[in-house]
Amino acid sequence: MSDFVDIASMSEVQDGTMKKSIVGGREILLARAGDRYYVVDNRCPHMGGDLSQGILKGTMVTCPLHHSQFDLSDGRVLRWTDWRGFKLSAAKLFKAPRNLKTHEVKIENGRILVKLKE
Ligand code: FES
Repeated sequence: MSDFVDIASMSEVQDGTMKKSIVGGREILLARAGDRYYVVDNRCPHMGGDLSQGILKGTMVTCPLHHSQFDLSDGRVLRWTDWRGFKLSAAKLFKAPRNLKTHEVKIENGRILVKLKE
């Protein structure tokens, strides 16, 4: 998909909140932190947790399932699950930490537009 798609009005998303949408059959997460809007894939790269049901603090989202944390500004993994010791090592072997996929956002006439990466 190469074009920007209108996903919401700016007034629909208050500071510190998140909203799940389906665009082109794909689940995405729109979040607002201050005056900035971020769009990432909604499913956690660990085991598919629904990030829209997680916790947003600034640009950090915490997955509701095993509490991995990601920075929405670049998709970077901040914490891979909240497991410790052997369980965390085994989890990383089974599934190496992966960043969240981020998408380009722009604002036009009070509308939030997103360009999805493949
Ligand atoms: S599914 Fe998100 S941390 Fe496990």
